[in-house]
Amino acid sequence: MYTTFQTPGRIIHGEGCIESLASEVERLGCGRVLIVTDPGIVECGAHRLAEATLAKAGIPYALCADVESDPSPACVERCAKAFKDFSPDVIVGLGGGSSMDVAKAVALVAAHGTPAQRFFGIELVPSPCPPTILVPTTAGTASETTSITVLLDPETQSKKGIVSSHLFAKTVILDPLLTLSLPPFWTATTGIDALVHAIESYVNLGATPITEGMCLQAMRLIVPNIRKAYANGGNREARAAMLYGASLAGMGFSNTQNGIIHAIGHAVLASHHLPHGLLMAAASPMGMAFNALAAPEKFATIAGILGVDCSRGNVNDLARQASEAMKRLLMDLDIAPGLAAHGVLPEEIPGIAERAVADARLMARNPRRATVGEVEALLHRHF
Ligand SMILES: [Fe+2]
Repeated sequence: MYTTFQTPGRIIHGEGCIESLASEVERLGCGRVLIVTDPGIVECGAHRLAEATLAKAGIPYALCADVESDPSPACVERCAKAFKDFSPDVIVGLGGGSSMDVAKAVALVAAHGTPAQRFFGIELVPSPCPPTILVPTTAGTASETTSITVLLDPETQSKKGIVSSHLFAKTVILDPLLTLSLPPFWTATTGIDALVHAIESYVNLGATPITEGMCLQAMRLIVPNIRKAYANGGNREARAAMLYGASLAGMGFSNTQNGIIHAIGHAVLASHHLPHGLLMAAASPMGMAFNALAAPEKFATIAGILGVDCSRGNVNDLARQASEAMKRLLMDLDIAPGLAAHGVLPEEIPGIAERAVADARLMARNPRRATVGEVEALLHRHF
């Protein structure tokens, strides 16, 4: 039995480090850049910093701002057309998880053709893709440090992942200044997504001392800073810590995969249009309560990081308290736990349970085995 750990080779962090984009393009030996982003980024003007540094260095670039939230393979194909028209040799993914996921998927179809959904699953991409530089504007999905792109499966209307070591970014640029204008709701929901990554990867059956160290440090950075960033988006220290925390969690879960919380969240039908981070927040207390039995020592540690007094009580009692501590954090962030509060109907429970258990990528290494009946009961208990 052996394990492999992989992560992007170069991560730049610091206020204003978006200025290093041009030198990174040159360092990679590239000359033409396609920036892939979404209309919201263009509206707030965050793309201008990237454009300015490229223009100053005389590097030709094109902008494709066609990324939609919950991107589908059709969205990837639209952006891939921009790739074909401009013939870049590097793709810059600028924005939240959707923009970075589409940037990776454009690299994938540029090398291997459409449709992207042929590659849903683990390590089905046969050979390298054009290089990407990923620049997040949220501290959440950590698409920048993972080898995963999540797209909407048009057949099932649920989200599925393409996992391949060929999708790792060549360079990650973490500039906290790009996250300062993120509104409180998105700060909270994307930040909880990052915390859920750290938790699901830490307790995962595929965890190693490397991923555990990263995920523990991610939790220690996110928990004390998410409330501060929510309360005051201009808190630069909190923003910088959140960006480090989210990326560290991504470095962890990219090597382990996530678990039941992500499986349940992905199983909620896309027609609800619920943001990924909100679904993760809503499903996190139930997923933690379910898994605590399987990994009590680790959940006791998580409870301690979430503020539970661990000086007394046995390990199982402390493990159970992690889920309650998560609910208290959600309350501070004005997010209701459970799916009903977000418009999901009780009659949807059987379908959600079935799709969640069938998600082998996420459930194979979840610490507690789960049947459809058990997940249905869990959903009813925490609905
Ligand atoms: Fe996530």
